[in-house]
Parts: sequence; structure tokens; C-alpha cells
Amino acid sequence: MMKIAKLTMSAAALLFATGIATNAQAADGAELYKVKTCWACHGKDANTPIMPTYPRLAGQNADYAFNQMKDIKAGIRSNGQAAAMKGVMGLVSEDEMRAIADWLSTL
Ligand code: HEC
Repeated sequence: MMKIAKLTMSAAALLFATGIATNAQAADGAELYKVKTCWACHGKDANTPIMPTYPRLAGQNADYAFNQMKDIKAGIRSNGQAAAMKGVMGLVSEDEMRAIADWLSTL
């Protein structure tokens, strides 16, 4: 009987931990978006860019957004106004871009 109770407890703990991990990742994306100054151009809600010609990011497909960031950082995407953003991309690692992209897709 004790053994079953213990097992149930660990399963609950595991579920709880997984829940926290998921939340932490979502929070990280939101936090990074602020700390890495993305909002300065794309708007606090990622939906009100400072210039009418800057893209809205809220709700964007995560893989698409991630790839655009990677390409702008690498200089592969250099058309349009990509140069405006390239300088900032030095501040974010691939993992951080991924976290931000995942968060943006949830907006
Ligand atoms: C100095 C202003 C500026 C800052 C800061 C900035 N961006 Fe951008 N970003 C732009 C501009 C301008 C474009 C559009 C480039 C173009 O015309 O091709 C863009 C494009 C993008 C795109 C591609 C959108 C699409 O639909 O293709 C993503 C994703 C993105 N930015 C994410 C970010 C993230 C995340 C950060 C913070 C790490 C950030 N940006 C910081 C100006 C900025």
C-alpha cells in the first residue's frame, strides 16, 4: 500500500515538474523579448511595431520566425530593412531565438 502511495506521489511530482518546465520556457521567451530589446522595434505586445513598415510578430509560426531570425543574424536575409535588426541579433543565441519564437507563436 505504501509503495503505491509513493509511486502516485512521484508521478504527481513528475507532472508538476513538467508543468513548471513548460511555463519556465514560455516565460523565458517573454523575458528575453524584453531583455534583448526586441520590443523597442516590434512593440511591447509584438503586435504594434514602431514603424508601419516593421513586421508584427505576434502569432507568427514558430519555425518561420526562428528561421528568419537565424537568416537575418547570418546575413542570408539582408533585403528590405533587415539591416535594422541585424545589430540586435548579436545579443541572442540560437537557443534564445528558439525560446522567443516559441513564445511569439503563442500570442
Ligand atoms: C532596431 C529595430 C529592431 C529590433 C531591436 C529587432 N527587430 Fe526584428 N525586425 C526589424 C525589422 C525592420 C524587420 C523586418 C526586416 C525586413 O524588412 O526584411 C524585422 C524582422 C523580424 C522578424 C521576421 C519577421 C517576418 O515576418 O519575416 C522576426 C521574427 C524578428 N524581427 C524578431 C525579432 C526579435 C526576436 C528581436 C529581439 C531579439 C528583434 N526582432 C529585434 C527590426 C528590429
